[in-house]
Amino acid sequence: MSTEPPPLRSELLRQVFGTFATGVTVVTARDSAGAGHGLTANSFTSVSLDPPLVLWCIGDRSDAFELFMTSPSYVVNILPAGDEARALRFAGKGDQQVAGDESRAAPSGAPVLGGTLAWLDCAVRERIVAGDHVILLAEVTACGLDESAGDGLTYFRSRFGRAAAPLPVSG
Ligand SMILES: Cc1cc2nc3c(=O)[nH]c(=O)nc-3n(C[C@H](O)[C@H](O)[C@H](O)COP(=O)(O)O)c2cc1C
Repeated sequence: MSTEPPPLRSELLRQVFGTFATGVTVVTARDSAGAGHGLTANSFTSVSLDPPLVLWCIGDRSDAFELFMTSPSYVVNILPAGDEARALRFAGKGDQQVAGDESRAAPSGAPVLGGTLAWLDCAVRERIVAGDHVILLAEVTACGLDESAGDGLTYFRSRFGRAAAPLPVSG
C-alpha cells in the first residue's frame, strides 16, 4: 500500500526556496507615456549565450504586472553590495517610479539605473504563465558592465548579504 506524501506547506516551501542564494536586480520598463518603473527581482536567470536569452518571473498580483505584460522590452539592473535601500525601495508596495535623474535610456528606451554592477537591455520573446507568476523570457539586445564595481548584493533566507568579488589570482 502506497502512502501519500504529506501536502506541501507553503510556508515550508517558501523557506526552502529561500535557501537558494541569489543576486538582486531591479527590472525596469517604460510605460506608454514614457515614465520609468522598477521592481526588485531575484528570479533573474541567464538562460542561453547563443542566442543570448535571460528570464525573470513576475508575480501576477504585482502592481507592475500590467506594465511588464505589455512592455516589449525591459532592462535588468544588477545591484552592487550595500544597495539594500534601493532594493527595498523598488520592492515597496505600489508603483515604484524611476526618476529621470537616476537613470538613462537603454537602446530600447527602458531605464538603465546608475551605480549598478551591470545591465542588460532585453526584448521580450515569450510570456509563459506559470502558476501565480509569469516567466518573461527575453533576448539580450545590449548590455554593459562597470569594470570597477566591486562586490554583489545577495539575497539568502530573506536577508541581504554580500558576494565578494574574487581575489586576484596570485603567483
Ligand atoms: C529580494 C527580493 C526579490 C524579489 N523578487 C521578485 C521577483 O523575482 N518577482 C516578483 O514578481 N517579485 C519579486 N519581489 C517582490 C517585488 O519586488 C515587490 O515587493 C512585490 O511585487 C510587491 O509590490 P507590488 O505589489 O507593488 O508590485 C522581490 C522582493 C525582494 C525584496
